[in-house]
Amino acid sequence: MKILGTGSVVPKKLVTNDMLSEFLDTSDEWITTRTGIGTRHVISDEHLEDMAAEAALKAIEMSGKKPGDFDLFICSNVVNEYVTPSLACVISEKIGLSCPCFDVNAACPGFMFTLDIAESYYKAGRVKTVLIVCADEPTRMCDWADRSTCVLFGDGAAAVVLGEGDNILATRLHSQPSVDKLWERRVLEPTPYITKTEVNTPLQMKGRDVFKFAVTASTTEVEALLESIGKTKDDVSYYIVHQANMRIIDAIKNYLGEPESKFPTNIADHGNSSSASCTILLDSCVRNGLFKEGDLIVFSAFGAGLLSGAAAIVW
Ligand code: COA
Repeated sequence: MKILGTGSVVPKKLVTNDMLSEFLDTSDEWITTRTGIGTRHVISDEHLEDMAAEAALKAIEMSGKKPGDFDLFICSNVVNEYVTPSLACVISEKIGLSCPCFDVNAACPGFMFTLDIAESYYKAGRVKTVLIVCADEPTRMCDWADRSTCVLFGDGAAAVVLGEGDNILATRLHSQPSVDKLWERRVLEPTPYITKTEVNTPLQMKGRDVFKFAVTASTTEVEALLESIGKTKDDVSYYIVHQANMRIIDAIKNYLGEPESKFPTNIADHGNSSSASCTILLDSCVRNGLFKEGDLIVFSAFGAGLLSGAAAIVW
């Protein structure tokens, strides 16, 4: 397939590190040094589905497609206010889509998972035009008294329209199940028969373990991805890496031996917005005219699961 349009929307509320240090035992110095994050957009009065619908309409407008042209809509999301129907259904109603749609929860690498599904449907001859939306609100998963997690995240939504083409050269998905590294649980509705104990547990993370997984999985998958398509790092124009932590991005860059100029970032202004991260960054690169025709762009993301994904796209 080929990317025909992109769009993104972030919440209006900007939270600085100094604002966090008003109620947390933290500092701008600690957060900036350990993560590279300066500010993040945090949901206040917005609903995620409204931001996602607006991002989708922006991408559709850029693509020149109409709602009736879409054969499939896949939404990457971890949590939102609706348990059912899927966020994809909620967005579809808002933007007038009537094609089959569903959600994928693959955490932060959700864009690569949705891209892989779309490309597989396309190669099977079942679709020609696909909408992908990556919408996440990880700030609603954190305990805001826990300085080790809440400082890392921001919210947002971004969309990609895919049409006919052969620009997606390869996708790679990887799973290394290890739930206790990054997880959240919630209590479900009670019934007269429930005898087990259920506890609401906000996002828990073993930061150092996730850090190590991220760097290893990303570098291993990127090298395998390039080898699978007969390309080398010299052929790569840009890496769009999950915006989780600037130190993770730097470690990936150093391991691959690639220059900083190949790694556009937005982590300083956005923090980690889960699967929306890569797609928000993609949209800003597209709208700023960074990519030129023929550029080879490599995507890499990692997160809860533990899962990781990579993709190579010719612009
Ligand atoms: N402000 C100030 N101090 C903080 C803090 C904060 N926001 N968060 C943690 N600390 C403290 C810790 O309590 C610890 O104190 P101690 O030494 O007295 O116990 C100290 O800082 C070091 O903590 P540590 O966890 O070892 O720091 P770190 O260098 O590993 O950085 C992360 C922590 C979370 C920034 C880092 O591990 C990381 O980015 N991991 C990956 C997380 C991620 O990206 N997850 C999502 C992936 S999708």
